[in-house]
Amino acid sequence: MTKPIVLVTGASRGLGREAARRLAEEGYTVLAGVRDSVSMKPLPGVERLPLDVADPASIVAAAATVKARHGHLDVLVNNAAILLDDQNDVLSLDGDLLKRTLETNSLGPLRLAQAFAPLMARGGRIVNVSSAGGQLSAPSTWSSAYCISKTALNAITVQLAEALKPRGIAVNAVCPGWVRTDMGGLEAPRSLQQGADSILWLVLKAAPDVTGGFWRDGQRIAW
Ligand SMILES: NC(=O)c1ccc[n+]([C@@H]2O[C@H](COP(=O)([O-])OP(=O)(O)OC[C@H]3O[C@@H](n4cnc5c(N)ncnc54)[C@H](OP(=O)(O)O)[C@@H]3O)[C@@H](O)[C@H]2O)c1
Repeated sequence: MTKPIVLVTGASRGLGREAARRLAEEGYTVLAGVRDSVSMKPLPGVERLPLDVADPASIVAAAATVKARHGHLDVLVNNAAILLDDQNDVLSLDGDLLKRTLETNSLGPLRLAQAFAPLMARGGRIVNVSSAGGQLSAPSTWSSAYCISKTALNAITVQLAEALKPRGIAVNAVCPGWVRTDMGGLEAPRSLQQGADSILWLVLKAAPDVTGGFWRDGQRIAW
């Protein structure tokens, strides 16, 4: 049997690297999307793929590379993100900073889905790594650009899920919880393993017809 192929974006460090490592252990062919392939320490069984999610040309080039090398993709994990505004509320939010954040955290995953969905067959999965910061049902006011970008990512998830349902491709959003990474900081209560478990449930354990939801630790959470 051929190994399923998964692309994890933002795999140079943090949750993306941990997800890539674990999926290789699970027997997947793992493509690690990294914008600086030199800085990523190698992982056994993981192939580095140059990919800047904020650069549309880089996304198109990555999809062409995957098509040429592998012919198809089974799973896309849209993990890469930035958090540029620490503790700023919306009244002091800089428009350019919001644009840069949306470009990476919201448009990046959308463009990746657009570029890679044509390479995916029935049973394919797209996992958008979102955040509780994007929940409209429980508004967060810290880092407003980041939170807005994750709300947008959630909306994109719902739109993609509907668009790809007829093709049998599942699209979901997931919150890893507050995790000790460069982004989450040392105070965060969750380990890398716990955060990655939450993401990987959608790759490894969710039924293939589970689509259009927002999840944490395998449980549905409110948008
Ligand atoms: N940590 C938390 O508490 C937490 C909570 C909720 C949600 N999340 C979400 O979980 C995901 C992973 O977060 P993390 O904590 O692991 O973050 P992190 O430690 O800051 O790592 C972010 C990763 O994204 C990559 N990245 C950023 N911009 C990129 C771009 N334009 N192109 C390609 N890669 C790019 C970084 O690559 P470089 O090394 O090149 O910078 C790095 O690999 C994110 O979507 C985040 O929003 C995290």
